[in-house]
Amino acid sequence: MPSPPEIRVLKDADELFEAAAAEFAAQTSEAVRSRGRFTVALSGGSTPKRLYSLLATKPAIPWDKIGFFWGDERHVPPDHADSNYRMANEALLSKVSVRPENVFRIHAEEKNANDTARKYEQTLQEFFRLSPGQFPGFDLILLGLGPDGHCASLFPDTSALNERRRLVVANWVEKFKTDRITFTFPVLNQASCVTFLASGPDKAAILHQVLEDSSADLPSQHVRPINGRLLWLVDRAAASNLSGGMTTLP
Ligand code: 6PG
Repeated sequence: MPSPPEIRVLKDADELFEAAAAEFAAQTSEAVRSRGRFTVALSGGSTPKRLYSLLATKPAIPWDKIGFFWGDERHVPPDHADSNYRMANEALLSKVSVRPENVFRIHAEEKNANDTARKYEQTLQEFFRLSPGQFPGFDLILLGLGPDGHCASLFPDTSALNERRRLVVANWVEKFKTDRITFTFPVLNQASCVTFLASGPDKAAILHQVLEDSSADLPSQHVRPINGRLLWLVDRAAASNLSGGMTTLP
């Protein structure tokens, strides 16, 4: 049975990102100590940028032992303003001693998004030495929360929501008239830890729905790691609509 979510409410955005950085550092040192490496799938969007910038000020983290992946990507080249890779590279990876061979970006510059998704699946299968039907066990997957309840690029009413065999797919998002390349739920739910970050009053309504409205059927509600932690790090503004029953308040 998936363990119940841990919901930590921090006083404000500063404390939220400090807590997220501390969690990242603790998980990294534990994984490197016990397994010699740490594997993380980064999130895109605007919220994690402050975490990445903060982590870039943490030289003690064993950056050379970390494998970097992305949970999703926009169908754009790596130098495009919308590129999740570009954001993480500018805020973090270009500033710390990561090994270039340990950075596995999604090659979304390719014209055919399906090809991009298949190639990234292959990258995961080779890196994690997966047999057919197996899913990669990331140490940590970072996620944001979209205003419609999406996470990664698993948007409501899209085909990727029902994918149970593939690791990565191209997912057509009608409202943006574009494909996104995204991890599927089986990959998200195989992780040792999935951490959602949500900050600010704009997230209050959707956070309440995701965490406290069991009648809703939102993509983020389907993230329940099978043998891992589900950690929500949110600030008070984002938590302002929560009843408080499930949260650890500051
Ligand atoms: C992306 C993300 C997406 C994001 C949410 C929240 O590529 O956009 O992976 O899932 O996390 O849309 O975005 P904000 O953090 O900007 O609110």
